[in-house]
Amino acid sequence: MNLFDVYPLNPVAIDRARGSFVWDDEGTRYLDLYGGHAVISIGHTHPHYVDRIQRQLNKLGFYSNSVIIPLQEELAQLLGEVSGKTAYQLFLCNSGAEANENAIKLASFHTRRRKVLAFRSGFHGRTSLAVAATDNPAIVAPVNETDAISFLPFNDVAALEVWFGLHGDSCAAVITEGIQGVGGIREASAEFLTAIRKGCNQHGAVFIADSVQCGYGRSGSFFSHDQAGVEADIYTMAKGMGNGFPIGGIIVAPHIRPKHGMLGTTFGGNPLACAAAIAVLEVIRDENLLQNAATVGNLIREQLSAFAQLKNVRGKGLMIGFDTPEHPELRRQLLQEHHIFTGEAKGNVVRLLPALNIKPTEVSMLTGALTSIFEKVPKLS
Ligand SMILES: Cc1ncc(COP(=O)(O)O)c(C=O)c1O
Repeated sequence: MNLFDVYPLNPVAIDRARGSFVWDDEGTRYLDLYGGHAVISIGHTHPHYVDRIQRQLNKLGFYSNSVIIPLQEELAQLLGEVSGKTAYQLFLCNSGAEANENAIKLASFHTRRRKVLAFRSGFHGRTSLAVAATDNPAIVAPVNETDAISFLPFNDVAALEVWFGLHGDSCAAVITEGIQGVGGIREASAEFLTAIRKGCNQHGAVFIADSVQCGYGRSGSFFSHDQAGVEADIYTMAKGMGNGFPIGGIIVAPHIRPKHGMLGTTFGGNPLACAAAIAVLEVIRDENLLQNAATVGNLIREQLSAFAQLKNVRGKGLMIGFDTPEHPELRRQLLQEHHIFTGEAKGNVVRLLPALNIKPTEVSMLTGALTSIFEKVPKLS
């Protein structure tokens, strides 16, 4: 049997990993500034994480949601403590798309409405509602097409206010990332997030903060939306939540009341996934990783800004982007010549999404590589 060809692949097979480094099957070491697509939050194979998962697997790997799973309650307590959202309610699932799917569905149940507002260049996943709310026709199959979702330009407060005036009373939810990831590291302005909050309050709609990529401490705050001083009604999470163990979730404000039948899952919240997620939060808390993300993120942006060849260095914490219009080969050179993994977005955007415990000494490997690459490039006038 062959594999279904889903992605263009880098010609590298990763065999083992530790902290911010991975090794291929020939023993070559790479610096991982991509974090497996923003997934590695506490570093690869963190000893506390490995130990907790191993101990749990020896005890109980799975049982269904038909019984009490105390680890879910432990996870909810710890997530409340670390995120500061103590009054919210936790529902667990397995991925980011599933988290957004459940968030939109719950908003529709809660409001008994079917209109959803999403934004240009946003990305919310590949399942039916999540992909319908994603502004990329190339990934929307005919069966996913729906008139329930409307799109507006990102960060356009005037357009938002006009839309609320026309459609607010039939709006179930507004969904937005705090920092667009796939869209190229574009921050939502505080003014824009505040206007969404205000419109949702006025019209009884649900504000969904897609925090799958920009959440879980990556921005230097637990949720990037926090930096605008704006509270959402539902936050969606995945990626860094399990540091590679598949787990996603939504946290739901207390005014949205649950009813049996609204949501459900077989695998969501299984004991093994909970053990992984608890270990991640313990490390984020005990190793002060929100602070590290903010500090090292500032350091990286400062150092990148010194390279005239890198344009529009931007982002928050360890969610960093820059444009390389004159150097379309930069990512390939970093990988093949300097063994550094980075991420990308359309339009020659390089995305850096490293582990939240990356060290300044590791960052200097990137700046050293950039210096060496640009020294070889003939100066462009
Ligand atoms: C902002 C955002 N939302 C949702 C998703 C979908 O997550 P998953 O691939 O876990 O379904 C992604 C994935 O990249 C994302 O970046």
